[in-house]
Amino acid sequence: MRVLLTGGAGYIGSHVALVLLERGDDVIVLDDFSNSSPEALRRVEKLTGKTVQVVEADLADRAAADAALADLEFDAVVHFAGLKAVGESVAQPSRYYRTNLNSTLNLLDIMRDKDVRKLVFSSSATVYGTPAAGVERLDETQPVGCGVTNPYGWTKAMIEQIITDVQRSWPELEAVLLRYFNPVGAHPSGEIGEDPSGIPNNLMPFVAQVAVGRREKLAVFGDQYPTADGTGVRDYIHVMDLAEGHVAALHHLQPGVEAYNLGSGEGYSVLEVVKAYTDASGKQIPYEIVAPRAGDLATLVADPAKANERLDWRTTRSLDDACRDSWTWQSQNPNGFAGA
Ligand code: UFG
Repeated sequence: MRVLLTGGAGYIGSHVALVLLERGDDVIVLDDFSNSSPEALRRVEKLTGKTVQVVEADLADRAAADAALADLEFDAVVHFAGLKAVGESVAQPSRYYRTNLNSTLNLLDIMRDKDVRKLVFSSSATVYGTPAAGVERLDETQPVGCGVTNPYGWTKAMIEQIITDVQRSWPELEAVLLRYFNPVGAHPSGEIGEDPSGIPNNLMPFVAQVAVGRREKLAVFGDQYPTADGTGVRDYIHVMDLAEGHVAALHHLQPGVEAYNLGSGEGYSVLEVVKAYTDASGKQIPYEIVAPRAGDLATLVADPAKANERLDWRTTRSLDDACRDSWTWQSQNPNGFAGA
């Protein structure tokens, strides 16, 4: 299969590119490199011994997207391109809505023009918003959009709706919405991994930068949640498991729109992550407890049964594996791809 990855130079896209190439698929990456590095793709090529076709363009710019994709042939699209920082989306809502929605609308138009019918969308568990009290393991029947707390999350929920509406008007479209829980870890080689710009928003990249000495200490956002140790609990999924979930989704596409949770089904607290990372890295991770972060939930864990059964996919890597692989990446690349 020839697969177009929009935003394919990013953290998750680069791992999906690698897994597809290893399976023998062809990969085209469309990326504007606004929050990613071409070095990630060079490393994917090095690891696989295969070539990635790279097209540099901003998908949110219709003319640029048309020009970039006009002469390309592909069978399927995995759509990652978009802005993804929760806090930034609160400060810059127009930019988030414009970028994430326009790029998706442009992509869907271009796919229809070219009669490319296969689409996998990089969605997020954030579309579940604030689940009803007592619901801790989320399945795909949970309502979408109830109590979403930030524009980034709204763009994911809106894009799911846009894809659903477009499919109604174009019944041949075969779409899957992949709702990621908390992607962590890196390829075990340590050649590619998460390379956030600026101060990391997410837990594991922050912990990694503390371990490698780039940051002094972790701020733990609250220890009074109704969880075993009082800190927030999440479902951390190894990025290689996540990448394999995309391949499974690509091979189970059929006309319609189907949503799948990609998670492990197991929750770990912030302090459990700190402990696992300390063990994996052999480094001290100093931390202090600070006030909870606005909009955070106590617990968010996937019920992955639907993906397990229908996609014949499940996670096989542990939190310890993710910490080990994250540390290999972080210690080999203390300044991310910028140091390359
Ligand atoms: N946390 C800290 N300190 C930090 C960062 C995070 O204590 O410096 C805690 C959070 O409070 C939370 C846990 O670590 O309990 C995980 O936080 P992340 O920021 O890593 O992940 P979130 O679950 O908040 O966010 C993830 C995705 C978002 C998505 C959101 C909701 O990164 O894209 O899930 O589904 F919107």
